[in-house]
Amino acid sequence: MDKFVVKGGTRLQGEIGTGGAKNSALPALAATLLTDQRMVLRHIPRVRDVRTMQRLLVDIGAKVEADGECVQIYVADVRSPEAPYELVKTMRASSLVLGPLVARAGRARVSLPGGCAIGARPINLHLAALEQLGAKIEQAHGYIEATAPHGLRGATVRFERITVTGTEDLMMAAALAQGETLIENAAREPEVVDLAALLGKMGAQIEGAGSSTIRIQGVAHLGGADHTIIPDRIEAGTYLVAGAITGGDLVVTGCVPEHVAALVTKLQAAGAEVAEVDDSTLRVRAERELRSADVVTQEYPGFATDLQAQYMALMTQAEGIAIITETIFENRFMHAQELARMGASIRLEGNQAIVAGKKELTGAGVIASDLRASASLVLAALVARGETVIDRVYHIDRGYEKIEQKLAAVGAQIQRVD
Ligand code: EPZ
Repeated sequence: MDKFVVKGGTRLQGEIGTGGAKNSALPALAATLLTDQRMVLRHIPRVRDVRTMQRLLVDIGAKVEADGECVQIYVADVRSPEAPYELVKTMRASSLVLGPLVARAGRARVSLPGGCAIGARPINLHLAALEQLGAKIEQAHGYIEATAPHGLRGATVRFERITVTGTEDLMMAAALAQGETLIENAAREPEVVDLAALLGKMGAQIEGAGSSTIRIQGVAHLGGADHTIIPDRIEAGTYLVAGAITGGDLVVTGCVPEHVAALVTKLQAAGAEVAEVDDSTLRVRAERELRSADVVTQEYPGFATDLQAQYMALMTQAEGIAIITETIFENRFMHAQELARMGASIRLEGNQAIVAGKKELTGAGVIASDLRASASLVLAALVARGETVIDRVYHIDRGYEKIEQKLAAVGAQIQRVD
């Protein structure tokens, strides 16, 4: 089991590049199930979750040719419309194949995802939405059986709460349904917009992606497409925090500044200088003492829950008290205990974490619990006095490509040991 060994205390300086968005690659890969034509997806990050999704597509019947960041996929026919438990339990985003399989093959057998470190994360909203399009949903033996032998019919679906992959699942199913589907209270994340752009290239008729109401006119068939996915805003945000927490001077390239606007506003409120160098480059400097700034996580365009753990690490180094409120997931403070073991002063009260800074952190043995919590531990280790050993870094490999190499290239003393 790989570990990271990090010696803290160096300021990060230089340029760090942003890869393709994991949370755009996953729905884009699922969308290839909607057509029997060739699909070419570019800027695909080589991270564990993407490899898991590619394996799932092959099990379903796809031909997948991955060449670096470019993946070619053919799903001439769906051999086995299933997502088995052994795959789904390692990656809950497997539920993204539900909508496409029901729409393409008229049926899907997808394992219920089961629990996750950050919360229960049910998929009831995905299922209710597909039922409204006419799918018959049964649940047995830990699996969802969804069937629509006569195809799906468009409907108006209002999500009772905003769900990113729920919106994506439904958008893909509706693209091949008969008639019009209206999605109300839709997720507005950039990854939803990117998926709509890909579906549009395939021939889907979609309007309003990026707003709370998405209108989809179903079509009989979808063709192939060649699409480059958007940069990973969470990876870019993680590196911006890395520059700020180490008091460095870091240029983050290949990103979309607008996609991290909420984080940039908070970094500036905390006293870091963040400047837009050009439309794909941000520069962060933090020569001065940081001061605490409260944050409430919200759906896009609010402050991303996926950057909450990283921000918590930063607030341990800021003067004052920062109140971090997590409104998206019910158990997303696992990193707080590990940060406390490094010397942070964090009190948890319900969905709030009260971070008292500035506290010197010291290196310790810590354990990663989930993808973004592990990123938070890396950030804390970069500024801690002494050596930190982070165990179970397979969590971080799910969503960050070569993070230790990228950080080492800008001055971090970090190495992977197995
Ligand atoms: C997506 O997960 C992302 N994953 C998550 O990123 C991200 O944290 C999350 O959106 C919120 O932004 C991918 O895009 C692959 P939700 P998703 O459905 O779609 C509840 C990462 O680190 N809910 O928007 O699963 C749910 O429990 C990952 O890259 C239901 O109750 O999140 C949560 O509390 C972590 N029923 C809230 O809604 C449902 O049917 C938002 O979840 C669906 C969701």
